[in-house]
Order: sequence, then structure tokens, then C-alpha cells
Amino acid sequence: MCGIIGITGAQSVASQLLEALSLLEYRGYDSAGIAVVEKESGSIFRLRAAEQGGSLHHLIGSLGKADTSRFEYCAGIGHTRWATHGAPTTVNAHPHFDCGSSIAVVHNGIIENHHQLASDLRARGHVFSSETDTEVIAHLLEEETADGRTMKDAVVSLLTTLRGAFALACIHKDFPETIYAARRTSPLVIGMADSSCLLASDVAALVETTRNLFELGDDQVAEVTPIGFKVYDQLGVEMTPKPIKVGWSIEAARKGGFADYMSKEINEQQVAVAETILGRLNESGDSELEELEIDEASLSKVEKVLLVACGSSYHAALVGRHAIEAWAKIPAEVDIASEMRYRPMRIQENTLVIAISQSGETTDTYHALKQARSQGVLTIAMTNVVGSLMSREADGVLYTRAGPEIGVASTKCHLAQLSLLECLAFHLAGAKSALSGSEKAAIAGDIMNLPKLVEKTLARQDQYHKVAERYSEFRDFYYLGRRSGFPIALEGALKLKELAYVRAEAYPAGEMKHGPISLIEPGSIVVVVAKRSSLWEKIMANVEEMKARGATVIAVIDEDDEESASLVDDVLETPAVTEICSPVIGVIPLQTFAYSIAKARGHDVDRPRNLAKVVTVE
Ligand code: AGP
Repeated sequence: MCGIIGITGAQSVASQLLEALSLLEYRGYDSAGIAVVEKESGSIFRLRAAEQGGSLHHLIGSLGKADTSRFEYCAGIGHTRWATHGAPTTVNAHPHFDCGSSIAVVHNGIIENHHQLASDLRARGHVFSSETDTEVIAHLLEEETADGRTMKDAVVSLLTTLRGAFALACIHKDFPETIYAARRTSPLVIGMADSSCLLASDVAALVETTRNLFELGDDQVAEVTPIGFKVYDQLGVEMTPKPIKVGWSIEAARKGGFADYMSKEINEQQVAVAETILGRLNESGDSELEELEIDEASLSKVEKVLLVACGSSYHAALVGRHAIEAWAKIPAEVDIASEMRYRPMRIQENTLVIAISQSGETTDTYHALKQARSQGVLTIAMTNVVGSLMSREADGVLYTRAGPEIGVASTKCHLAQLSLLECLAFHLAGAKSALSGSEKAAIAGDIMNLPKLVEKTLARQDQYHKVAERYSEFRDFYYLGRRSGFPIALEGALKLKELAYVRAEAYPAGEMKHGPISLIEPGSIVVVVAKRSSLWEKIMANVEEMKARGATVIAVIDEDDEESASLVDDVLETPAVTEICSPVIGVIPLQTFAYSIAKARGHDVDRPRNLAKVVTVE
């Protein structure tokens, strides 16, 4: 959940650390901190801040007042935190020191046995200054190196001592040019530049400096110096590092002239969908998913699909289910990862499990995937991050090609997931020979037309903003949809909740009469997905029920559908599209609607309160 950076050999190491941290801030922004070895004094310089929404800014100000010439070309580490153990305060901000301030540590993940370790360390005289699980690492290294053991060997020994998931980096005052790192489960990437070496929890922090990138493997330790790095396994035996290929440009990770990342990312959705579909199907109805590395013969044996995910990715999974059932004509189920992983899993033979995760790192989804795989069934990870945890765990991987998504609320990655799930459902249908030639050509045409329709929808954003302006003061929203419209409603409600901090409940429209309708009264705002489909009349009957109880109804409708418009109070018009493809289009006005209301209420849409972009805790 946190962001880690390490740099050694750079001239202005401290300011470079802060610059890199600004690219990692989306991983957590409760606090930020850096530590750099001062060669001459033989000590470690540390700066930390925990300022709501402004920790990095604060650090930049403090660094401006410091004499940074003292630690040029030395080793430094930095961290941006999303609090798990200990409140978001400065004392809990990383880097953490050992008793003598000789060792500084940054860490991402959770040390599960930290209570026991801390109590043993305290019994042996160590004094702790934070409430974090991380601090045990600094004290353990202090003990390990006290009898002359090298830092490298001390870090290797941590792999045996620590339980849980972690990526960590540390420096020692006596080794001013070396950074030591280790990881288990949480990712860590190493980069080599001309005369410096870097490491980070995310490639986004490194691509500006170098594309010569390597992955630190699970349970491996790295010793990083300005002229290169070495990697060791759990036994301290040297290993060959694995290079990583990255296609992203640094410009893609910047705001590109938009007021915030979220509006930039909403406006990148046409490209995200186009790139995701690119080369994966053609007009004659053929699909091409060679990268999956699961052949059609294996897919043809699939009798059932189980999709698993969290949050917006879960909503995408619900859309995937409809596509698989309609096109591949096999049963599909969807599960929330945090529930699935704790149920006794009884997955039938010939089930295909698809784990969907923008980050590829969400702990619950990762463990659900891992457990499913241990049952011997075929698994696919669908993620936006090349080389992410889930991509390494599954039998096959499909990447959404949305580029880095910085805004905490998922937008372009969600649309890319929807498009890719449709490609996959279509591919599965091909493997199972479930569609006729003409059906295949028609569906492929619909999917390939999506980027154009996304563009047309985005061109209507002004209209969506205007409608949203009228509702920014309201506090009770209900989002309704049926079949493919229900995941759209769920996603719209999630966007409003996470961005505008407004209560928004999503229900399948037909479910309202079983209870929730008693909440409807004058002042209730009902947002209904009423695009034309075979269920349009039924949804309009549900609209009547809401209006009869005094609700104000806003409907997502097909453009120029005057009949629908005449039955509701406000409309969000979108291009017409076949029902199964409709979520890709229908969700866009609801993203913009939530964005506008959040802005009108004065919220930071890129960094909603209490949330983090990557959820690596349970
Ligand atoms: C989406 O707007 C949310 N920030 C959140 O629900 C997210 O979709 C969820 O945490 C899953 O993340 P993942 O796709 O990276 O696994």
C-alpha cells in the first residue's frame, strides 16, 4: 500500500527522492519521509512529515532549508505511507531508525509477527519510538550486525525471521553508498542509470530516469551501489536478476494539462479501450489472444467460469459474467475476493477462474486466485500492471492496456477491464464454437466500434456536468439498473460514494419493491440506467414506482430517446449500443456525474479520504 524509493550515486539524491515520491504518492499519502547517509559526519539525515494532503510539499519546503551538499552522491531511501499499523503521524512516518539511528528502513506490506518480534526485542533492551510494524526491522538489523555480520547477510536473515508480505529498503550510516533491499509478495523494481542505481515499489517512479529495469524476485535480497547491484536468494547465494520491459512513457504518468488525474484519465478512456481491444479481434469475427498462452483446446474444455475481484473490478466481473453466459453459453459466477478466499472452496473440475485487478496486487484477489490455483483449475489474471503479483501467479495473463492510472477512483482501467472481458468472453465463445459465423462478425463489430462510441460519449461531458450541478447539494442517492445495467448502477454509486462522500445505494431495479422502496420520499434522487434493451419497459415501470413516491429521477438513456426523456426529470444521454456492450458506454456519464458533484463539494478527486489506490491489506 505504501510507495518505496531508493537512490544511490545521484548528485542531488534528496531532491530526486522527493521527485520520485511524487510519482508514488497515489500508493498512500498519510505521510512521507526520506533518509540519506551523510558521508562525512557518519550519520543519517532524516526528514519526515504527516500533513493531511501535503506531506511531500512540507518535505520539499524543509529540504529547501537544509544544506544538501553534505549528502551528495550518497545512498538515500524514501517512503510515502498509507497507514496500517499506527496512526498517520510523523513519528509513525517512515523511514524508521534502530536504537542508535545507524540504520534507516522503509517498508511496504505487513509484518505479521511484529508483536512477538517487538516484545522479544524490547525484552533485550531495544527502545521503540513508533507504533509501526516496520520498526522491528531496524532493530533486528541492529542486532544482526552488532557482532560484525555484514548488512547483506543481516538482510538475508530477515527472510527467515519475518512473516507476512513486505518490500523493504534500508541504509546503514557506515555504508554510505549502499542500499539493501528485500521482498516477499510486495513488489520491488531495480533500475540502473548512468552513474546511479535506483529501486522502487513501482516502475512509475523510475521510468523518467532509466528503462534499464529489473525485478527483484520473491524472497530475494538486493545489494545496490552506484555502479551496479547484486541479487541473492534466501541462502545468500547470488542470483541472476530478471529484466523488465516497460512500454509506458513518463508523460503518460503526468496530468497532461488536466486539472487532476481523474479528469485526465476519464478523457483517456477512448484510447484505453482502443488499445485494449487492438489486435485481439477482427471484423470477420476471429479473436487473437495468443499472449494468454492457454490454447483453444484447453479453453474448449472449460465448462464454467468463476470471476473474482474487488471494488470496480468486481463490477467489471459482473459485466463479464453476462458476456460469457450470452456468448460462450456456459455458466459464469462472480465472487467478491475477500469473501471467496475465506469460504471452503469447492471449485468444480473444468472451471476457469478469472481474477480481475487493475493493480494486480490487491491482497484479497491475489489470495483468492492463489487458492483457486491450488485446486488445480485453470486460472487467468486480468490486470493493468505488467509483472504484477497476480500476473505471476496465474496460468495465463491478459493485460488491459490503459497506461498508469493515478487517480484513486478507477475510471479508464475499469473501462479497459470491461472491454477486455468482452474480448475474452468472445474468445471463449470461439473456443467453445458457441456462435455462428454471422453472430461472431456482429459481436466483433460491436466490440470494435466501442472506442468510437466512447469518444462520442466523452464529447457529451458538458451536458453531464450541467446535470450534476443541479444535484450537488443532495445527500441520498439510489442507483438502479437491470441485468447489464445493474453493474453500471453499482459502479456509478461507488464513484459517488468514494469521491463525493455522499450516501449512494445501488440495487437491481426489480429488488426495490422487496424493501428499499420504503426509503424513497420527496428529496430522494434516483439515478436509473434506462438504455434501450429487452428490459426497458420493466425498468420504466420501476421508474414510475419511484416517481409515485416523490423521487426525482435522472436517467442514463440512449441519445434522442424522447420517450424515455419524457418519463424522467433529467437525462444523461449516451450513444445507443447493444446491451452487453452497454456498460462500457453507460458508466461514463456516471463517472462525470460523481466527479462534478465531488468538485462542487470541494473534494480532492484524485485522493479521496480514507482510500488508497492499491489495497494490499485485508
Ligand atoms: C475503484 O474506484 C476503487 N478505488 C476500488 O474499488 C478498486 O477498484 C479496488 O480496490 C480493486 O482494486 P484492483 O482492481 O487494483 O484490484
